[in-house]
Formats: sequence, structure tokens, C-alpha cells
Amino acid sequence: MTDKPAHTSSEPTGRKRRALLLYYSFSGQTSGLLNHIACGLKKEGVEINFIRLRTVRPLRFPVGSIFATFKMMLVTALRRRVTIKEPEPDLWADYDLIMLAGPTWSYNPSGPILDLIDRYGPRLLKGRTVLPVISCRGYWRLHWLGLKKLLVKCGAKVPNRIVFSHPSPEPWRTLGVFLKIAGKAPERSKLLGRYYQRYGHSRQQLLEAEKLGAAVGAALRKGESLAALELLTPIALP
Ligand SMILES: Cc1cc2nc3c(=O)[nH]c(=O)nc-3n(C[C@H](O)[C@H](O)[C@H](O)COP(=O)(O)O)c2cc1C
Repeated sequence: MTDKPAHTSSEPTGRKRRALLLYYSFSGQTSGLLNHIACGLKKEGVEINFIRLRTVRPLRFPVGSIFATFKMMLVTALRRRVTIKEPEPDLWADYDLIMLAGPTWSYNPSGPILDLIDRYGPRLLKGRTVLPVISCRGYWRLHWLGLKKLLVKCGAKVPNRIVFSHPSPEPWRTLGVFLKIAGKAPERSKLLGRYYQRYGHSRQQLLEAEKLGAAVGAALRKGESLAALELLTPIALP
């Protein structure tokens, strides 16, 4: 991790900081986290711009069958890119921080994020401070390491990361996520519902996301390093 402040000390400290929240979300978990992170950033006076990546061919959640879910898992393990539509022109505005957020797909960044980096990465991210935000069921380390490598290759500074995993215990979490993607309702099953009560992040985690957003916002405002922040908390990663 590079230990660099989000802006240079020669800049006026009173200037309003701007953050781009650039994200893809398949089943709504990343967007839920980001909305709360944005609340925290705003509390610290950071100006926010959201850009949601949209795919050329719409991807539907849930995918609808066990077979289609297996197929998606296999294809995503091969890191297949999912072509995104041209992002809004605001993408190219000047930001103090870019938060690049999305889910883990088969231990990798999701296809739309990979497509974004392939097509726009070097032009968009060179010299920028990028803070990845990962939403996953629990297995994020390979995703983080691979993503960081790609971002650094584009010339980005990657001082830290925010990661949230689903709080349900294993093995129910893996089974539950798989069944939800397939379009089933495991939380309503008599047997499984005893161990798997909900898909995704908890209310407590969303509140934690707001706190982490505020911590990042305060560091930005004061011109402090984001690397020094402890962002992997026991609530985010239970
Ligand atoms: C195709 C696919 C593969 C996934 N693979 C992983 C994985 O390898 N590790 C993990 O922790 N979660 C995995 N997940 C779960 C998602 O990362 C998790 O549900 C996340 O919260 C979804 O975020 P989103 O709603 O913003 O898309 C996978 C989900 C999908 C759809």
C-alpha cells in the first residue's frame, strides 16, 4: 500500500473535497453499502458523485435456475469481461478520491469492473487515489490482491480498501448465496431457514459502512493519509 496523503499539503485545507463513487452492483449489496458510505462522507463535507456501471446486455438477478448459476460461477472464474455502456462524462471530472466498488465474483472482481479497467483504466486512474470497496459473501483476498495489481498497473495509488462480507455462518452462507442467485428463497425453507436467515449485509454492517465513510471523509478533509485508517473492522468482516 502506498502511504500517500489524498492531496498535497500545498493545497488549501478549506477546499471542499470531491469523491467519485464508481460502482457495479448485481444484487444490490454494493449499492446498499455505498449509499451508507456516502452518508458518512457527506457528514464530513465531502461532495459525492455516484456513477453506476451498466452492462450493454442486462444481467438479471436472480439468474433463475441452478444450471444458470453454475454456468455464471464457471464463466466468472475465467474472469470473462462483461461489456459496460459508456459511463457518464462526469467520470472524467477532477476528484480527490475514486471509490471503485463491486462484488466478488468467483474470487475475482466482477466482469463489468474488469471491463472498465481494461477499457478506461490507464486514462482514468493514472495518478489518482483509488479506494476499492468490496462486497462479498466471505472470500475476498484474491479479489483484493488481483484488483490492487490491476489498479497499480494503471498508475493508481491504492492506499487502503473497504471490505464487507456477509455475516451468516458457513456452510449456510455459501449455500444460501448460491440458492439466492438461482432464484430460490433459502431463508424461507423450513430446514435451511433455521441456519440462514437473510441474504447479504446486515443493518449493523450498513451503519458500520457509514462510520467508515465518515472516517475516510475526515481523513480527506484534513489531508491525512488513508493508509493509516483501520478499515477492516470486526463488524465489516465478522
Ligand atoms: C457469480 C458470482 C460469484 C460469486 N463468487 C463469490 C466469491 O468467490 N467469493 C465471495 O465471497 N462471494 C462471491 N459471490 C457473492 C457476492 O460477492 C456477494 O453476494 C455480494 O454481496 C454481491 O454484491 P452485489 O449485490 O453488489 O452484486 C459471488 C456472487 C456471484 C453472483
